Amino acid sequence: MGVLSGKRIVLGVTGGVAAYKAAVLARLLLRAGVDVTVVMTASAQRFVAPASFQALTGKRVHVDLWDAQIDDGMGHIELSRGCDFVLVAPATTDFIARLAQGRADDLLGALCIARDCPLWIAPAMNRQMWLHPATVRNVQTLRGDGVNLLGPEAGPQACGEVGVGRMLEPEAIVAALEASLAASDEHRRTTPPTDAPVARLAGLDVLVTAGPTFEPIDTVRGLTNRSSGKMGYAIAAAAREAGARVTLVSGPTALAIPEGVARIDVTTACEMADAVMARAGSTDLFIAVAAVADYRVLQVAQHKLKKTGVPPVLELVENPDILASVAALPDAPFCVGFAAETEDLRANAQAKRRRKKVPLLAANLAQETFGRDDNALTLFDDAGEHSIQRDSKPVVARALLAHVARMMGR
Ligand code: C5P
Repeated sequence: MGVLSGKRIVLGVTGGVAAYKAAVLARLLLRAGVDVTVVMTASAQRFVAPASFQALTGKRVHVDLWDAQIDDGMGHIELSRGCDFVLVAPATTDFIARLAQGRADDLLGALCIARDCPLWIAPAMNRQMWLHPATVRNVQTLRGDGVNLLGPEAGPQACGEVGVGRMLEPEAIVAALEASLAASDEHRRTTPPTDAPVARLAGLDVLVTAGPTFEPIDTVRGLTNRSSGKMGYAIAAAAREAGARVTLVSGPTALAIPEGVARIDVTTACEMADAVMARAGSTDLFIAVAAVADYRVLQVAQHKLKKTGVPPVLELVENPDILASVAALPDAPFCVGFAAETEDLRANAQAKRRRKKVPLLAANLAQETFGRDDNALTLFDDAGEHSIQRDSKPVVARALLAHVARMMGR
């Protein structure tokens, strides 16, 4: 039985040509054992009739905010209660704009605002609409709000143009959902439910950085490192599990967004610094796990550099130290730093803790953590040194947060 089996979802369909693919999607989900309730916008019904979804799901399709047949008339609240997630596919430019604004003037919009479960959207639109600054802004807002995006992908479009904007194929949507749910299940499975110390972070705003940064040299090359992001993602997932509102500022990784976590995607150290500094004031706990590049290239070439026979000399400038900047704020959150060292762990980690002026620093050996699924940490704080023994990253993350919660007096 697959990870989707037994899940209850609302499938929202909005008005784009790809709406016909939503019928195939509904069929695949039903076949995977999902209980699917379909909600359609007015324009979606111009592309596909509700009767198609009704025949597929065997259930009434919901289209109206003012549906008299829903017992207490609270369809926008009732429909998503008890659901594992809401999936909107296709999600049009207009729906994305309305969602980013928090509009609730139709059933699907209201339901998305009133939901208490994760939301996935599969955008589908013309390539120019996808690239429009307003859409870029709206998508960024949604990512910041914790909405998970599936696609879009590149390819030929219904309008005859070619570019990014096509809705992912229904099979790819199902595969992405399965991968994300499997990752969450793996986190729960590898995290002992009862005997591990449970960190109490309920009500706190937690900000985590994770992954590498990528510093461009020219339009195709750059400086980066081998960080996989797994430790930072495990910490974000564990903080969410401990009741916190979690924002994850992530460099380029191939990892799925942990359930319930708001992810902001960045590429360079400067972008990561901007994203963190914009949120540091409203953060209670900041955990800097990212392997941030120390330097960036001063003059990024606007074309691919050619081999000339004379090796080029790259002038590097230092990147902002994000952790030290947050720790130096007048009303700084509780700050936790990481140190990945290749040798002399203790001396380097203690020096780093003093230099960055953070109450807690978690140190690990780079060769024993980068890219791996397990890790061991040595924690340095005012009280001294504490070991977290080697285990899967989710288990280590939980133990780290238990220590942090104790230090924060929770
Ligand atoms: O100085 P170093 O890179 O070894 O310090 C590691 C710690 O500082 C990590 O917590 C890392 O996320 C953070 N850091 C940062 N900004 C930088 C460099 C490191 O936040 N520019």
